[in-house]
Amino acid sequence: MKLNITVLPGDGIGPEVTREAVRILRAVSDFQGYRFHFEERLIGGAAIREFSVPLPENTLEACLASDAVLLGAVGVPQFDSLPRSRRPEAGLLSLRRALGGFANLRPAIAYKALAACSPLRPEVRDGADILIVRELLGGIYFGEPRGSAESAAWNTMRYSVEEVERIAHVAFGLAARRRRRVTSVDKANVLETSQLWREVVTRVAREYPQVNCDHLYVDTCAMQLVTNPRRFDVLLTENMFGDILSDEAAALSGSLGVLASATVGGGVDLYEPVHGSAPDIAGTGKANPLGAIASAALLLRHSAGLDAEATAVEGAIHEVLEWGYRTPDLGEGERVNTQEMGTLVEQALADILDRRHSYHAV
Ligand code: NAD
Ligand code: IPM
Ligand code: MN
Repeated sequence: MKLNITVLPGDGIGPEVTREAVRILRAVSDFQGYRFHFEERLIGGAAIREFSVPLPENTLEACLASDAVLLGAVGVPQFDSLPRSRRPEAGLLSLRRALGGFANLRPAIAYKALAACSPLRPEVRDGADILIVRELLGGIYFGEPRGSAESAAWNTMRYSVEEVERIAHVAFGLAARRRRRVTSVDKANVLETSQLWREVVTRVAREYPQVNCDHLYVDTCAMQLVTNPRRFDVLLTENMFGDILSDEAAALSGSLGVLASATVGGGVDLYEPVHGSAPDIAGTGKANPLGAIASAALLLRHSAGLDAEATAVEGAIHEVLEWGYRTPDLGEGERVNTQEMGTLVEQALADILDRRHSYHAV
């Protein structure tokens, strides 16, 4: 098994958490005798400092030539005053568009070991297991016209039938393999784009009679995510609603730091934690690498076809949490820093792979 992975650490805690995710991928590759090749490139603020642009040519070329891209985070307060198109975040948006992945999968799971860390009561959150399917290449993020003048600024929310259809098929296809329920989230009581969204999703739903489909307005959904999260299986929504709801879903685990994502459907798949560059804790060793590591597990599953290894990495994360190890965002427990957390997951992973190996050898 040979795999070329472009690694884009980015800004703030991005490099800190990405290092731990790469450590885990290397461990899998060494243990199993695979050939994973890592190529590191600049993106975001780090690229602006070196090349004056947030997505340099050589970064994009490396990404397009690879089997998968693993990204940390972008964003630097120092560059917040730059015009939108020159900011670090513009580099990430251009990269997403160039790679073509329109389906951003963001699992939000109420880890049992993190019950005390979640602000939600156990009887509300225990057992919640949601897959947010966020449309990633359309909507207000990319709609034209957009612009600003002295006295006003404007953005356009736009969706085509085809854009809604393709993301709806992804959501129903995934739901068919889970608990067979899609909740589509929109603002169809106010927006034309959402009326179209609802019509198209309703039509696509007819092709999946085994999957139950319901619709919620985004404001109600925001409330139900924290009052009745177990009602959700697959949550299907447009770009900006998905951005907001996936951060809110962090309440299930108690920290943004454990949430992972995979962006699929284009030429090259992209894996990144849901959180940002966290400038408030960058360089302190406080960053939780589990979201980045869980993103690496998704890479193993979706881009490498290594489902057993992906499950082993996820199992290692669970074990380390069950043993009580905690970065500061996860509250009380055996306090560890970013690197210690990565090392613990690596050790737990080695044990799991060893156990499997000896089981098969018997
Ligand atoms: P953020 O996600 O960076 O941080 C929000 C809060 O969560 C902070 O208090 C931070 O310390 C904490 N946090 C985030 N990740 C953590 C982790 N792994 N471990 C422990 N704590 C963690 O969001 P923000 O502060 O709104 O944005 C900061 C910068 O990141 C901005 O420039 C923003 O545009 C960018 N951003 C980038 C991405 C991305 O690259 N995918 C995502 C979101 C935000
Ligand atoms: C995310 C981030 C990005 C988004 C930003 C940094 C462009 O918030 O990945 O959730 O809004 O998609
Ligand atoms: Mn976000």
